[in-house]
Amino acid sequence: RLAFVDLQPPDPILGVSEAFKRDTNDLKLNLGVGAYRTEELKPYVLDVVKKAEKIMIDSEENKEYLPIQGLEAFNKATADLLLGQGHSAMKENRVATLQSLSGTGSLRVAAEFIAKFLPGKTAYLSNPTWGNHKNIFADAGVEWKWYRYFEPETVGLDFEGLMEDLRAAPEESIVVLHGCAHNPTGIDPTREQWEQIADLCIEKNHLPFFDVAYQGFASGSLDDDAWAPRYFVSRGMEAIVAQSYSKNLGLYAERVGAINFVLADAEAAKRVMSQLKRIARALYSNPPVHGARIASIVVSRPELFQEWNKEMEYMSGRIKQVRQDLNGHLTRLNGDRDWSFILSQVGMFSFTGLDKEQCKVMTDKHHVYMTSDGRISLAGLPSSKAEYLAKAIDDVVAN
Ligand code: LMR
Repeated sequence: RLAFVDLQPPDPILGVSEAFKRDTNDLKLNLGVGAYRTEELKPYVLDVVKKAEKIMIDSEENKEYLPIQGLEAFNKATADLLLGQGHSAMKENRVATLQSLSGTGSLRVAAEFIAKFLPGKTAYLSNPTWGNHKNIFADAGVEWKWYRYFEPETVGLDFEGLMEDLRAAPEESIVVLHGCAHNPTGIDPTREQWEQIADLCIEKNHLPFFDVAYQGFASGSLDDDAWAPRYFVSRGMEAIVAQSYSKNLGLYAERVGAINFVLADAEAAKRVMSQLKRIARALYSNPPVHGARIASIVVSRPELFQEWNKEMEYMSGRIKQVRQDLNGHLTRLNGDRDWSFILSQVGMFSFTGLDKEQCKVMTDKHHVYMTSDGRISLAGLPSSKAEYLAKAIDDVVAN
């Protein structure tokens, strides 16, 4: 009966991890998925996470269902982390925060909301963007279009193209923005550019929709990395913000995140919240509790929060070191090319400019697993393997 079903190709990101597992060569490196590894290539469970888990076990909490909107303490903590503690929008009860299943689940709940309450509106996505954005909006029934973002010649931001496209978009469009550490390019607008994007959103009445999946990984500071969404909110705009704790707390498999709607007043927030709950209830009923407890304990206890900031600096510092190493090796091997983009890009990724064919050679010949758009996750690269990676890149660009 289902013989007509055609074969779906592997996921462009998670499919790379599947292929990596099948490779038996000792040299293999998984730079596909954005997941942090230690210098020894081990997954890293943060010390603050272990401490929070101990606190949880000691307090013998139960496994009852959470409310549809999630753990109250988490929702408060996550909005605090996003907007800054005690933000006036929260005091005015005009933020609707729903705990959801990490970044993807949070984005999907908001996409369903847009399909239902803003029918006919188009979501504008940066070209390129995280591979899953298109599917999330399309599956929810929201039409999406590109706005220009990346300029291959300068390996930088095509700011003029971005502004032109967002200006040409119909009024009241949805503009999907990466809060920090743009995935896959690692190129963020400057603060002055963010200000101009905000001006344009106000002028065109666009609805900004931030995806904040890497808070802490761009600058090493959780506060600095929330600058863009905070700035938009400070300009009096309504905004949607998805958050993920997969990367910055390393809670990948716990699926902890949130969707926040910052609205004009408390009445709107109450109504939006009721609709977000209706959407979540039909999608997955209510969210898992374990990761939400960890995140709320870490964010709300000052001593743990401070420690988290230190671990965040440590993780982002390791990635910065690896950027230096890779840049150094490549410059030594092939000084004719400018490799400085590796240093100027921020966050977990470097966007190498390698084309699909070159990426395939990286994998088939050198056992370096990466996404076919040329993105490498530096979070998965130890310093000791930077030279190996540099030689592989030098080989594919030379041939
Ligand atoms: C990535 O871009 O590698 C991560 O966001 C993981 C994912 O779910 O795709």
